[in-house]
Amino acid sequence: MTRLDVDKTIEELTLGEKVALTAGVDFWHTASVERLNIPALRMSDGPNGVRGTRFFNGIPAACFPCATALGATWNTDLLHEVGQLMGEEAIAKGSHIILGPTINIQRSPLGGRGFESFAEDGLLSGTLAGHFCRGVQEKGVAATLKHFVCNDQEHERMAVNSIVTMRALREIYLLPFQLAMRICPPACVMTAYNKVNDTHVSENKEILTDILRREWKWDGLIMSDWFGTYSTSDAIAAGLDLEMPGKTRWRGSALAHAVSSNKIPEFVLDDRVRNILNLVNWVEPLGIPPHAPEKALNRPQDQALLRRAAAESVVLMKNEDKLLPLSKDRPTLVIGPNAKIAAYCGGGSASLDPYYTVSPFEGVAAKSHSDVHFAQGVYSHKELPLLGPLLKTEDGQTGFRFRVYNEAPSEAKRTLVDELHLVRSSGFLMDYVNPKIKSLTFYVDMEGYFTPEESGIYDFGVTVVGTGKLLIDDEVVVDNTKNQRQGSAFFGSATIEERGSRHLNAGQTYKVVLEFGSAPTSDLDTRGIVIFGPGGFRFGATRQLSQEDLIAHAVSQASAASQVVIVAGLTSEWETEGCDREHMDLPPGSDEMISRVLDANPNSVVVIQSGTPVSMPWIGKAKALLHAWFGGNECGNGLADILYGDVNPSAKLPLSFPVRLQDNPSYLNFRSERGRVLYGEDVYVGYRYYEKLARPPLFPFGHGLSYTSFSRSDLSLSTVPELATLADGEPITASLTVTNTGSLPGAETVQLWVMPPVTGVNRPVRELKGFTKVFLDPGEAKRVQVVVEKKLATSWWDERRGKWASEKGEYQVLVTGTGEGELREGFTVEKTRFWVGL
Ligand code: BGC
Repeated sequence: MTRLDVDKTIEELTLGEKVALTAGVDFWHTASVERLNIPALRMSDGPNGVRGTRFFNGIPAACFPCATALGATWNTDLLHEVGQLMGEEAIAKGSHIILGPTINIQRSPLGGRGFESFAEDGLLSGTLAGHFCRGVQEKGVAATLKHFVCNDQEHERMAVNSIVTMRALREIYLLPFQLAMRICPPACVMTAYNKVNDTHVSENKEILTDILRREWKWDGLIMSDWFGTYSTSDAIAAGLDLEMPGKTRWRGSALAHAVSSNKIPEFVLDDRVRNILNLVNWVEPLGIPPHAPEKALNRPQDQALLRRAAAESVVLMKNEDKLLPLSKDRPTLVIGPNAKIAAYCGGGSASLDPYYTVSPFEGVAAKSHSDVHFAQGVYSHKELPLLGPLLKTEDGQTGFRFRVYNEAPSEAKRTLVDELHLVRSSGFLMDYVNPKIKSLTFYVDMEGYFTPEESGIYDFGVTVVGTGKLLIDDEVVVDNTKNQRQGSAFFGSATIEERGSRHLNAGQTYKVVLEFGSAPTSDLDTRGIVIFGPGGFRFGATRQLSQEDLIAHAVSQASAASQVVIVAGLTSEWETEGCDREHMDLPPGSDEMISRVLDANPNSVVVIQSGTPVSMPWIGKAKALLHAWFGGNECGNGLADILYGDVNPSAKLPLSFPVRLQDNPSYLNFRSERGRVLYGEDVYVGYRYYEKLARPPLFPFGHGLSYTSFSRSDLSLSTVPELATLADGEPITASLTVTNTGSLPGAETVQLWVMPPVTGVNRPVRELKGFTKVFLDPGEAKRVQVVVEKKLATSWWDERRGKWASEKGEYQVLVTGTGEGELREGFTVEKTRFWVGL
């Protein structure tokens, strides 16, 4: 690739070529113009790893802890390292652009993609995102802040109108984007699917041009979310540079016509093209060749970083009687639905095929010097466990054959056009292409052989975007072809799982066939749903078991066990793109199991995995509780490092965990109703609400314990610029002494809050304005500094003026950290000022 002379290239491009450049050509590539040496650019999700160009049957990748897990580290240096490795992963996949980080706001615990964003607070989220982007972009790879803005729920995500005051938009929802841009201007921004105050963001001039371009002076590339472009002229005029994915729906001849008829002046189209060509130049030093092959890195140093990140994200929520850390020399009983599965990431476009995973049980078993036992306790799957890994092909390999035809099974003459060997019996075919497939309508027979180890009644389940019929020894057991019912899998585009059962004998081999028809064969009503490509399939099975038997068995094991760890929580089935959760509870049976095991052995340690808050009706009984999120490839090892004390927990919650769903501030206004959602809690999101009402949540934002203890003392504030590390603005430097007063090394997170004076404006009690993390040996004391910018630390958004207002008055700085106690100091703003800009 050679650098383009952008202005000259624009002069030389034909109208057709310019138009073509403004849309993708397929799921993951932009258009090329070989005549003028303009290459195609490749992009890939996403927030917790770089999947590459194939959702279906792709090359495995590193899976990082989910964003709420990374948010819990409050560690900007770690986020920088994570960004760097993410950049290297992108290069290995031949990708110029990473579609991440996600920095929407968790208004509600129920948001299906809540796990993808760092925090409920813009300062924490934006700061971490900025350092993450810096790491990515230092490697020459373009980062994408998404989804700009207010895509904070999944329900009717394309159609919903987010009704939000300008003040909340600025102070809560735009803030993480603004702050990330101050640290590292990203090369790309992706628009949100939804409307903000009546206009879809992808055609919202106020948001894209007036704020992002003019006010923030940002000159990168704006792309739409996938199928999130809804017009030709309006989107171009508002500032949307690139429609994704291809083939285009709105540009092509429609855009050429709009320019020819002067509905869109050609210089406006040129501005869009200029941003695309600038991005081509920006990524040019990467030297990624066209059609670059995709590789796996999976280096030991990467595994070590992933393990460090996983461990650093685990929050010690409770630790009465110093139950934790556990002893490596005593036997450990591990119980629970998440113990033997690796809940490594949430679902949807964030998900990827990981290089490997380590389950909590494997992590514990690898670390313990004594016996490690297991009891299931309860299952927590939403859909039946995948059957693929239990099948064998005719020639004895694990998995099944995937045979593709243009003709339906009912046709006498069928020609095989593709044959694959798969193990995962779940596939989203959005980017599956094969030139021999003649249309979007095609058929796949998946065939494998199942030999159960135990006799009994087995349930089988089939979920499809398309149609599916499961046969055992040629007899139909599940028919999901007619009267289909809408479900939540595959970004909300699939049917529910239809089930059937059959008695099977141990040791006997059965032929299992799934007859799949691609998306157009479905009779599902797809209004309001995004269909990504030709469809998807999933089939699973399990032997019918009594939940009571499973729980009773776990309880009796626990009562006699020396050390017990319960691992429960959610998985990518429960927290996924395309649908929000319906409630905050754990999957059926989990609460009962946890409660009964705690009764039987009150010293049991509870570990919960979820990307967002869950209710904990048994919390009063639990002496020790860890929150372990979705921890990426290394989730089991990272957890074991904390359980056995090889790593001292230092994570702090990036979200408030309410007692009940009803307590959360968006409770009355979450989900789309007749196409709109009112952001009724205004600026009182998360802790801002609980503190204003003096109604403590179960676990507050910023909470997290340690195996050691810390003290904080001698706070002083200085406004001398030389002391500060800020490039501009008027810095306020808070200096304090942090001491490790316990007997173990550990890291402390110092949190700096600002409390505004009482004026005529209703404001949160205090807001997070800065933080820093410091590592201390036992007995060690360090002087640490947190620098904040005065105008950012004091302002609220004045809607009447359309400006930030830093009002004169006395402000309080509060400094907190692990455990009780806060330090306070004051500073004065002498004169009220109003400002706009980044
Ligand atoms: C998601 C984006 C993602 C894109 C491509 C969309 O469904 O909202 O975050 O980058 O798909 O996978």
